[in-house]
Amino acid sequence: RRIVFSGIQPTGTPHLGNFLGALQNWVKLQQDTSPNDILLFSIVGWHSLTLPQDPKRLSVARREMLAALLAVGLDPKRSTIFHQDENPHHTELSWVFNCITPVGKLRRMTTWKSRLATSRNANDESEVDESMLNTGLFTYPVLQAADILLYKATHVPVGEDQKQHIELARDIADTFNRQFSKTFPLPEYVATTTRRVLSLKDPASKMSKSSPDVSSRILLTDTEKEIRKKIRGAVTDSVTGVTYDPVNRPGTSNLLTILAACTNEDIYELAKRYEIKGHGDLKNDVADAVVKLLEQPRAEFERLQGEQEYLSQVAREGAERATAYSTLTMQEVRKSVGLT
Ligand code: TYM
Repeated sequence: RRIVFSGIQPTGTPHLGNFLGALQNWVKLQQDTSPNDILLFSIVGWHSLTLPQDPKRLSVARREMLAALLAVGLDPKRSTIFHQDENPHHTELSWVFNCITPVGKLRRMTTWKSRLATSRNANDESEVDESMLNTGLFTYPVLQAADILLYKATHVPVGEDQKQHIELARDIADTFNRQFSKTFPLPEYVATTTRRVLSLKDPASKMSKSSPDVSSRILLTDTEKEIRKKIRGAVTDSVTGVTYDPVNRPGTSNLLTILAACTNEDIYELAKRYEIKGHGDLKNDVADAVVKLLEQPRAEFERLQGEQEYLSQVAREGAERATAYSTLTMQEVRKSVGLT
């Protein structure tokens, strides 16, 4: 039996990258897995605190993320959809894991290294400066391992940017199993079929919720007009014709990635069709496809805004179910480490 776990931070309205890279895949899993499989999808509030958040905005975004998960087609009867911060076992287990994870291992996480690099540039110092960064950011992947292992998850569908974190979770599971008692399965990274969706304005970085430039991402809540405008304004290049060449032509290739993901086509076949057409045609078709893809989820998201009672009920039931699953794991863990 498979136990599938994945999570998403409630740091803002989900964007096309989240949708194509994660959410769409979760919905597919929901359709394709056997009824015996257990599916858990979590909104990871604790993780979002690792970067400064406006409390009022976070509280809204947290609620909106739940509505978004339902709007894209996750079914709370089939999947356990819940707020990580409503099950206290996540932070408990993460403490236990902190105590068996070497500092050196966390220093090797690329997410940490890129944070360091950013803070270094900001201060224009050549020395690595850790004093600017909070400890939560450092142990972030340990909390993520706790999220996964608390449910003894066997499969974790995430974008490739998260792959190293899943490897760490395997490592931590193995360490715990050896040091105490065989408790956790080693979770597997499940690659999503879609490549990384890049920023529409700076194709050197991924499309992200935190970029200050709102025209760099397409939101689940964008209107047709906004979607078309953002795609028309997407940075490409001045090479004539269209080819799929992510290294030399990241902007153009990103549009092909998006279109291929929307239409479920092979990206190379797709590129061939646009070879003799130009960027204009490509952008038009990408806009059409994205508008069509997001039309229903957007309408459903808006409808759910008027159903706050229902949303609270889904959250409550999700948290209850999640806590019931993890209670057994925590009992085992406490017994293994001697805290009973
Ligand atoms: P988060 O919230 O950054 O992203 C959620 C999911 O979306 C994928 N993703 C993308 N995919 C393609 N293109 C993009 N531009 C893009 N941006 C984001 C991510 O790969 C991810 O699958 N640490 C996790 C949250 C987390 C988690 C977990 C995930 C916490 N605990 C346990 C799995 C299991 C994160 O920050 O995702």
